[in-house]
Amino acid sequence: MREIKRGFHISFEGIDGSGKTTLSTNLYLRFKEKGYPCFYTVEPTFMRVGSLIRIHASRIKNVPQYYMALLFAADRVEHYERVIKKKLEKGYHVISDRYVHSSIAYQGGLLNDIEWVRRINNKVPLPDLAIYLDISPDKALNRKKKISGPFDNIVLLNKIRETYLSLVNMKELVMVDAEKPLEVVLEDVVEIIKNRLNIDL
Ligand code: TMP
Repeated sequence: MREIKRGFHISFEGIDGSGKTTLSTNLYLRFKEKGYPCFYTVEPTFMRVGSLIRIHASRIKNVPQYYMALLFAADRVEHYERVIKKKLEKGYHVISDRYVHSSIAYQGGLLNDIEWVRRINNKVPLPDLAIYLDISPDKALNRKKKISGPFDNIVLLNKIRETYLSLVNMKELVMVDAEKPLEVVLEDVVEIIKNRLNIDL
C-alpha cells in the first residue's frame, strides 16, 4: 500500500482584529483551488472545553488568566488528538486559526509567565510553521466592528503584541505586515508557504 505523506501544519497568530480569520480562510481556499487536501480549524474549538471557553469569554467577567490558560490548554489537547493529528496523518495540510502561540502571547504575556504556559501546553506538538500577522493595536481596534471582547483594550493588546514580537525574535514565529491590504498580505503569506513546502500555490 502506498504510504500517505503527512500534511503540513500551519498556524495563524495575531492580536484580535489583525485579519487572521479572513486571511487563513482565504489561504484555505487557495489550497483547495490548487487541488491540495487541506483542512481549516479554529481555537477555541466548538468541542467540549472550547464551548466552555466561549461561554466564559462572552458571559463571565474577570476570569483569571491562569484559569483561562488551563482551559485553552485542555481544549488544545482535545483539538490536537481528535482532529489535527488525524487530518495530518491522512495527508491534509491543516490551517489553524490560533494555536499554542495564542496562549503563550495572551495568557503568558499577560501573566508574565510564558514558561508556565509553555509547560502546560507541552502535550501537543508545535505547528510546522506559525505565521504572525503584525498590526498596531490602534489599527486593529479600528478594524473591529464591535469592541466588546475581554482584550479590546490598547494596554492589553500592546502587551500581547510585545510578547508576539519576542517570539518573532526567538524565530518561533514568521512575521508578516498585516497593515497592508488583504490581497497583498495573502500574497506575502503564499510566498512564505510556497518556499517552505516547495509547492505551486
Ligand atoms: P478569535 O478572536 O480569534 O476568535 O479568538 C478568540 C479569543 O480568544 C481572542 O480574544 C484570543 C483568545 N485566546 C486566548 O486568549 N488564548 C488562546 O490560547 C486562544 C486560542 C485564544
